[in-house]
Amino acid sequence: MTIFVTGGAGFIGSNFIFYMLKKYQSYKIVCIDKLTYAGNLSTLEPVMNYSNFRFVKLDICDRKGVYELFEEEQPDIVVNFAAESHVDRSIKNPEIFLQTNIIGTAILMDACRKYGNIRYHQVSTDEVYGDLPLDRTDLFFTENTPIHTSSPYSSSKASADLLVLAYYKTYGLPVTISRCSNNYGPYHFPEKLIPLMIVNALNNKLLPVYGEGINVRDWLYVEDHCKAIDLIIHSGIIGEVYNIGGHNEMKNIDIVKIICKELGKPESLITFVEDRRGHDMRYAIDPTKIYTELGWLPETTFAEGIRKTIQWYLDNQEWWEDIISGEYQNYYKKMYGNLEEV
Ligand code: NAD
Ligand code: DAU
Repeated sequence: MTIFVTGGAGFIGSNFIFYMLKKYQSYKIVCIDKLTYAGNLSTLEPVMNYSNFRFVKLDICDRKGVYELFEEEQPDIVVNFAAESHVDRSIKNPEIFLQTNIIGTAILMDACRKYGNIRYHQVSTDEVYGDLPLDRTDLFFTENTPIHTSSPYSSSKASADLLVLAYYKTYGLPVTISRCSNNYGPYHFPEKLIPLMIVNALNNKLLPVYGEGINVRDWLYVEDHCKAIDLIIHSGIIGEVYNIGGHNEMKNIDIVKIICKELGKPESLITFVEDRRGHDMRYAIDPTKIYTELGWLPETTFAEGIRKTIQWYLDNQEWWEDIISGEYQNYYKKMYGNLEEV
């Protein structure tokens, strides 16, 4: 069995590669990654020398390169994590999101069609459903919730989902889609809420919370997401969409306070900054389908997961220090101005 994992040098893709290599020692995993600012080859260092692992630096929008690799490796399954993934960056510069997230998806599926109707899994997001009101805690996203996007990022992911379903209906490509809630865990790029707050707190820098900090996200430990994808690619029903989430809704401000407490840092580091444009209020997944059809349930509680995550950032300072000393500095200045140390 050969599995192509695109975007495997990023946060969730790398966690998925580690999980799969450990669980299926007879599988070959080929990681395809363009190594954008979010891709980090050092993350894959521990598996680089495995005989059943190969890393290929490649843009999923490079049709010729993608076709050549499919021809050479003849994969059985493609799992597409490769994407521009940060909402704030999509608000500042949407174009690359359309290119990678939509065109890249189409090129991968064209390759799947060309080289033997290969099984394709699209890693999507709960953001395609838009948001829910804060005062309607009885409402959740199901797989039948209409697509209703807010940001260029979520619109590009929704467009990709529609293309995937079109390739299923029109060409009979064997596809599945998973739409997961917010992940957290090791190797999370420190532009996203949880790792940004951990890294800033460790550096005694201010903790920028958008608006009033009352927006709600539904957090899932990354390994639980990887387990769900493993189940879907092996036992999921072709043509189906599966929501993934563990009923763990939390306000942003509460997450930041937990991080302060765990690190022994004062809440006075918290600073409220200008809100994100089009900021979605609340995400909440109903995971009934994946539970009843595939038996998936999250295994890591938030209390356990956030401690493991914080410990990982304490133990792997070099990993994130390398990131924040580079191009990240320019992004940070553009995004947050001159938020200083205190
Ligand atoms: P990430 O930004 O950490 O990693 C993305 C990876 O894709 C990077 O390694 C990057 O180099 C690579 N990449 C980008 N453009 C590429 C291209 N054109 N060709 C090849 N590689 C390219 O993202 P992540 O948080 O790990 O998210 C992975 C996937 O999961 C994305 O599709 C995202 O939409 C989805 N998702 C993320 C979350 C979350 O909470 N992070 C939740 C649900 C779904
Ligand atoms: O829901 C799944 C999505 O989760 C994925 O599809 C995306 O790829 C992933 O980035 C994530 O999107 P969010 O926008 O929810 O994540 P982010 O970490 O950027 O922000 C989480 C919340 O925290 C959101 O309400 C905005 C807020 N926030 C974020 C940052 C970076 C702040 O208050 N301050 C910040 O500095």
